[in-house]
Amino acid sequence: MSIPVDQWLQMLEDAGSEPTGESRISRYLQSSYDFLAEGKRVLGRYSNLTKYHLDRFKADELSTARAPGRVNLIGEHTDYNGLPVFPMAVNRDMAALFSPRNDRKVVIANTEPGFAERCFDIEESIPPYPTGDWGNYCKAAVQGLLDHYRQKRRGAERFRGFEATIDGDIPIAAGMSSSSALVVLCALIFLSSNRLDLHTTAEGLLELADLLAGAERYVGTQGGGMDQAISLMGASGHAVKIDFFPLRIRTAPLPENCSIVVADSTVKAAKTAEALDKYNRRPVECRLAAAVLKRTFSEHYGREVPISLLGDLKEEKLAITESEIWKIADAALHEDPFTLEEIAGILGQSAEKTAALYCKRRNGSIFPEPAEGFKLQQRYRHVIDEGRRVEQSVRALEEEDISGFGELMNRSHQSCRDLYEISCPELDRLVDISREAGALGSRLTGAGFGGCNVSLVESKQVEAFIHQVNKAYYRDYLGLEDREFGALIFSCQAAGGASVFAGA
Ligand code: GLA
Repeated sequence: MSIPVDQWLQMLEDAGSEPTGESRISRYLQSSYDFLAEGKRVLGRYSNLTKYHLDRFKADELSTARAPGRVNLIGEHTDYNGLPVFPMAVNRDMAALFSPRNDRKVVIANTEPGFAERCFDIEESIPPYPTGDWGNYCKAAVQGLLDHYRQKRRGAERFRGFEATIDGDIPIAAGMSSSSALVVLCALIFLSSNRLDLHTTAEGLLELADLLAGAERYVGTQGGGMDQAISLMGASGHAVKIDFFPLRIRTAPLPENCSIVVADSTVKAAKTAEALDKYNRRPVECRLAAAVLKRTFSEHYGREVPISLLGDLKEEKLAITESEIWKIADAALHEDPFTLEEIAGILGQSAEKTAALYCKRRNGSIFPEPAEGFKLQQRYRHVIDEGRRVEQSVRALEEEDISGFGELMNRSHQSCRDLYEISCPELDRLVDISREAGALGSRLTGAGFGGCNVSLVESKQVEAFIHQVNKAYYRDYLGLEDREFGALIFSCQAAGGASVFAGA
């Protein structure tokens, strides 16, 4: 089910001369990109990718796949707490050309010279590269799918590998999920190379999104499921509200007269061990807060109250009225940070056991108690209010209340900065400048500690907005030269989810 290379080259050429044409590649590209607006750029990328791939691999036939990055409009660090997020997939992606192999090797090349080629074998348990290696995202996808199919009694020896060349245009380490897009892309390539169809139905996509969210923990982060879900299930022109446990999606149309502008603070939210720990501390604190609340509620009601995530604090789940829930929860968490000792005392168990239960990193080691203690109240407040802001944002968009939505974005940034403490001086400055430049709402987006901000801007203002942010942030604040900041700020279109084109 792949495309002979000469046909592929012909299709690319046809698409170039007739961008709205009816050839299969034209139709695939048109359904994947805003081909009329950026057809030239897209074709340029694919030509380059094709040249690289054919130079590197002696392919007679090939297939192509893509997985978009995302920008989260609101709902930060809510996903792993069981509360909703509201992202959109963007017209920036990881794209690949690939062919199945007849053995169990996976060979991945990248058009970006900084990402050296990687090669590994498909086996029951694939050993990771050192932390931070880009090849781990591909291994994560393959390992996740192997684990999934092992449960269905299909062992690693029954899969074949592939060779692929990857080209990405999502800013790296900028909070736009380039790494999850890579995981999704590699998963689609693996599925397609093995003629599996998990990704071809709406139900299968939900299952795949869940599975890949778990699979990405292979690289050492404890993210929720937002990034994989939106990359797989993005909807053109729409933001997507995603709920978790179980995964559900609902689309909401973006306002036609507004644009979503993303600007890179240039602070790299790298996935080094140290950066991972900054990120991983938040889930640890949320789990500890949920454990303290479970204990408090259970004692109060003399029964086991089922709270394992902060998102479980719901009337329907606990059979306790909303007002009671907030009264008890607010009283249970004081403002001063908690020591591990104190939390252990509340839970009625030793500090060692508490750490073993709630403070584990992905690799099994224990996350050390921060010198300033665990900020349970602040994290809890952010998560609960942010979940509410997502619900309010969906309503605001549905009612075309654009300024209401912008205001919610502003409040979200404040909470990310002050309560969840995932901002940094550069992002705060960028957000302030964006508002001064006319954004209706602006906030950091993604995991935080650097990366991008996202702004809601009236479409007719976009040019003036970008001009002003360029001047005030990139030139005056960061001291960059004009030619350095062209690619750092851009308006994004909401794109459709990941796809494969293997001929038909
Ligand atoms: C990262 C994670 C997501 C989510 C965001 C914060 O991108 O991968 O699951 O937790 O951070 O909202």
